[in-house]
Amino acid sequence: MGEPSSLLDPFDAAWAEIRRLKLEEYVAELDHRGFVVIPPEIACPDGLHGRLLESILDVAEKRTGIRPDLETGKTHEFYKGRFEGYADTPGDSPIGEYFQTLIFEGRAFEEALMNPVLLALTTYLCGYSVVLSSMSTFIKGRNESPFALHTDTLMPSPLAPQALVCNATYLLTDFTEENGATAFVPGSHKLCREPSVRESVIGGENGNSDAVAAEGPAGSLVVWHGNTWHGAFNRKAPGLRVSMPVLMARPFVRTEENLFGKIPQEILDRNPMRFKVLTQQGVSYGFSSQDESTERVAKANQCMTDYFKELGMDSSGRIAFPLYG
Ligand SMILES: [Fe+2]
Repeated sequence: MGEPSSLLDPFDAAWAEIRRLKLEEYVAELDHRGFVVIPPEIACPDGLHGRLLESILDVAEKRTGIRPDLETGKTHEFYKGRFEGYADTPGDSPIGEYFQTLIFEGRAFEEALMNPVLLALTTYLCGYSVVLSSMSTFIKGRNESPFALHTDTLMPSPLAPQALVCNATYLLTDFTEENGATAFVPGSHKLCREPSVRESVIGGENGNSDAVAAEGPAGSLVVWHGNTWHGAFNRKAPGLRVSMPVLMARPFVRTEENLFGKIPQEILDRNPMRFKVLTQQGVSYGFSSQDESTERVAKANQCMTDYFKELGMDSSGRIAFPLYG
């Protein structure tokens, strides 16, 4: 398995890619605990995280006129929210400031989506037809309102055991509990249900004692199964916590961002076909008239046909491996 240009069943190809990238131990942990922290030297070996952080600070400044102050965190302390709907609720924002649709904001974000490590793990969880649901960032200073435990699979319990969605979050500053790290309940993905209100409490006397912090230096990538219970600890230290969640979904799931027909051709042209599929150009659902359906289905089918060609798919559905190795 794993010889260049060999043809493999997609399930075997996903595993061969994991072996090529030496991610087996991380996949074992992901299966066992429902989440895994991949260290910077594997997740961002060429300094991608530094470029993402700078690009995010630029986006924040462009959209609001305020450049986040990473050092003091004064720009975001006890932040109430500008766009997120927290401005009218008591307390501060549990997530800090929230910027969405980053895929349109430059090459670093395209690179983040095409990161082979991110693709290997999200493909393992959601298949070769996985799409980007959203690419966003949380910029969080010291805060007081906890981010309650939840799953990212937005459906009534029981949840399907296989991941319908998954999350790959870049840590762009150091994550510790004191720094307001993401919280996880290890193994909770196996329960296939949402936490109850009581189980979802983070921190304090009544907090869920099974919740642990996902700690790791800037440049780590945290990947989790869509059923895993997670939230966040409050940030107690000065400065800012910056993260970039890349939420991925199976193609029949309603995505947060609607990207079909919205990605500029220039961006599509400079990326592999898989980028087109990842940004939903192969999703035929979402039409609102018969004519639109005809047009959209044809475009989506062409996109998938081109992708299958890029995958080197043969008549039995096997694909060439490695794809981009
Ligand atoms: Fe979430």
